[in-house]
Amino acid sequence: MALVAPAATRAVLFGPSQDDAFFPDPVHLIGKDFMVATVEQLYAAWIPGPILGIETSCDETAASVLATDGAVLSNIITSQHAVHRRFGGVVPELASRAHIESIEDVSSEALRQSGLTWADLTGIAVTQGPGLAGALLVGVNYAKALAYILKIPAVGVSHLDGHIASAWLQDPEFPLPCVVLVVSGGHTHLYFKESSGHCRLLGSTRDDAAGEAFDKGAQMLGLEYPGGPAIDRMARQGNPAAIAFPRSYLKKGSLDFSFSGLKTALLYTLQAMPEESRVARAADLAASYQEAIVAVLVEKSFAAVRSSGARALAVVGGVSANSRLRALLQQRATRESLDLSLPPIAYCTDNAAMIAAAGRQALRAGLRAPLDMDAQPSLASSFAHTI
Ligand code: KG4
Ligand code: ZN
Repeated sequence: MALVAPAATRAVLFGPSQDDAFFPDPVHLIGKDFMVATVEQLYAAWIPGPILGIETSCDETAASVLATDGAVLSNIITSQHAVHRRFGGVVPELASRAHIESIEDVSSEALRQSGLTWADLTGIAVTQGPGLAGALLVGVNYAKALAYILKIPAVGVSHLDGHIASAWLQDPEFPLPCVVLVVSGGHTHLYFKESSGHCRLLGSTRDDAAGEAFDKGAQMLGLEYPGGPAIDRMARQGNPAAIAFPRSYLKKGSLDFSFSGLKTALLYTLQAMPEESRVARAADLAASYQEAIVAVLVEKSFAAVRSSGARALAVVGGVSANSRLRALLQQRATRESLDLSLPPIAYCTDNAAMIAAAGRQALRAGLRAPLDMDAQPSLASSFAHTI
């Protein structure tokens, strides 16, 4: 694989530097004297080279290195599930602390596994939002410190753009235009991604995101956090047609979603059941509840493909790891002869390869983060616009 010679690349951007050979751990350098790139240098044309991606928006600390050609050289993810499990959900303060504890190790390991050195990096992409403020701050500040020390550009990207970009990580040739369904813990968004790369929002959830419906449903069923994978596992032993949970399609032609009624239906079903039946029928409950979520996701995605005239569908975000959703999407795509991008599981749930991929696009488009870049907990997609 051809990598741009990094020292030469930086020499072009910033002039020759004495310290190309060795970049010590940035945390130990704070407060020391550094040569800072000028604004002109920071905004100079970016010469494609390896990129480090950093993701700390929620409860995963992740770092990844992409090669010059966009291939994933490493993808390291440390999950904080063990930290949050006993609380039944993410505790923001604990999340920030855990990110601080692991970000250096995770980034160093991503670099080690990539076979590159700090000096080889030519850009840093970091999740700027949306997410938990304190958690985002850890990644944003770490990325800025690294960029400052390595004298390479940093760019802040939307977590949503990262999820969207994950559809092209495995298959860079996946066709455009296409419909993209982003289904995660915070979002259920259907986009039309144009040939230009711009995304037009076709529909989104009016209340809970699909991942939230999984997580809250799992809590009601007494399953462990995170709820999505727990329901997925439990549902494999159950009958998806056992209990007729409502499927909310909203008004005809609508590409919006709503999962709050389903959640209430599960609550009432459980309240009406004696304790022994709840336990005995746990697998049927999980399978039927899951089916009500995934059936709507599949139906609306294919309706969006039909109405938009696209011939390709990408499904991304944590919920796209769901085995039943993946099976139904694959069956339907084969039946309708559509191209389907379903990223490998490691790229579905939060990861930094997707952030590096979105950052690579942003750097190529000339975007650079100023050194006063801040976390933006409510950041939307930068590539998307609504009609
Ligand atoms: O994309 P993601 O890792 O983080 C956010 O951006 O929110 O998505 C997390 C969501 C959680 O709600 C989690 O329960 C759900 O994805 N999830 C799943 C599965 N794996 C993760 N939901 C259903 N089935 C799964 N196998
Ligand atoms: Zn996510």
